[in-house]
Amino acid sequence: MIKYTVKPTITIKDFYHVFNSFFEGEGDLGADVLSKYFPGSTFMYLNYARSAMIHVIKSIGLEGKEILVPAFICKELADVFIETQTKPVFVDADLETFNMDLGLIPELITKDTAAIIAAHTFGNPVDIKELLKIKDEYGLAVIEDCAHALGGKYGDRYLGSFGDVSVFSVYKFFPTVKGGFLVINNPEIDIDPVQRGEKLTPSDVARFIYSFDLIHKLLPGIKEKGHELLYTEIPVARPNKFIKMLISCHLKDIDSEREKRHSLSLLYEAHLKDSNIRFQKLAGNSRVSRLNFPVLLPPELRDHVFNGMIGKGVLCDRLWHDAIVFSEKIKRAYRLDINKYPNAVFLSKSMLNLPLQPNYTEGDIEYVASNLKDLCTPDSS
Ligand SMILES: Cc1ncc(COP(=O)(O)O)c(C=O)c1O
Repeated sequence: MIKYTVKPTITIKDFYHVFNSFFEGEGDLGADVLSKYFPGSTFMYLNYARSAMIHVIKSIGLEGKEILVPAFICKELADVFIETQTKPVFVDADLETFNMDLGLIPELITKDTAAIIAAHTFGNPVDIKELLKIKDEYGLAVIEDCAHALGGKYGDRYLGSFGDVSVFSVYKFFPTVKGGFLVINNPEIDIDPVQRGEKLTPSDVARFIYSFDLIHKLLPGIKEKGHELLYTEIPVARPNKFIKMLISCHLKDIDSEREKRHSLSLLYEAHLKDSNIRFQKLAGNSRVSRLNFPVLLPPELRDHVFNGMIGKGVLCDRLWHDAIVFSEKIKRAYRLDINKYPNAVFLSKSMLNLPLQPNYTEGDIEYVASNLKDLCTPDSS
């Protein structure tokens, strides 16, 4: 039975809190909550971060242009470039921070380069000072990809307040089934309202029920319904009211969520420090929002450890063993030479993402870490 997973789950206590919030009266639901974190900005809710990105690219006239994109990022973004007929120019990763290597950008700039997608990989902030210097020097629009960075801070400002526009994915942190939002920081940018609205579907309800901790305890064999949807094309749409209410209830306190995740990640570090496991080098002057706890393993051990952890009831992730530069769609559309991205390839073969949910106890972290260490010792295979 899987006891620990990288997916957010909901406890009865959380549910009670969310349920109560439904009756408190939210005024302009969502916008009020977000303006606390991004004063002076405007917002828009969408069904997913990837559709938010499509909507931004179309609204600000980037179609047909070149966009700088991390080579080490999820394959789901392939549809963004194909749908908007933009040309992604991939930038290899930094092996320590796992973020895009900003030092490679000058040699990739052409007269058609119009924008940069700056993703904070696993919540670790990109070097914002350097990013903004590049933006000014080459006159680029910055789309900040905060899909992993909800609640993270650089200096005293929240991640998502530095780009012209920023995209977020809420369901990765909270059990909201789906949902993302856009933060528009540049007052000269106009983003069209999204016309299409989504209805609540049986698959939404099934996925909501599936996110309950209790369901897994009562029915340990249950399989999630509707997850396959994430790998098909998704229309740009506003989330339905139920999802939007779930999102705004959870967004009320992103700071305490971030701090709980942070202290658990320190425990992971303490347990794993005397081993052959490598950690992500975190940006200084920042508060990282830990989506999961990423570690680098020797590539020849990674899949063996991933499967061994399942046997121990721990479902890790391997983000991104199938990074965007491996995507067949991308290779076909843009004739990509994978050899140009050796660091992204290395990370995709070495990365293991350990589960990290705010309700874990010290004992939970110790259990995951000690099983990981056992599986990494040579005689465990
Ligand atoms: C870095 C990054 N950006 C964007 C996305 C897209 O997020 P969503 O699933 O909300 O479309 C993902 C995940 O799929 C991601 O990992």
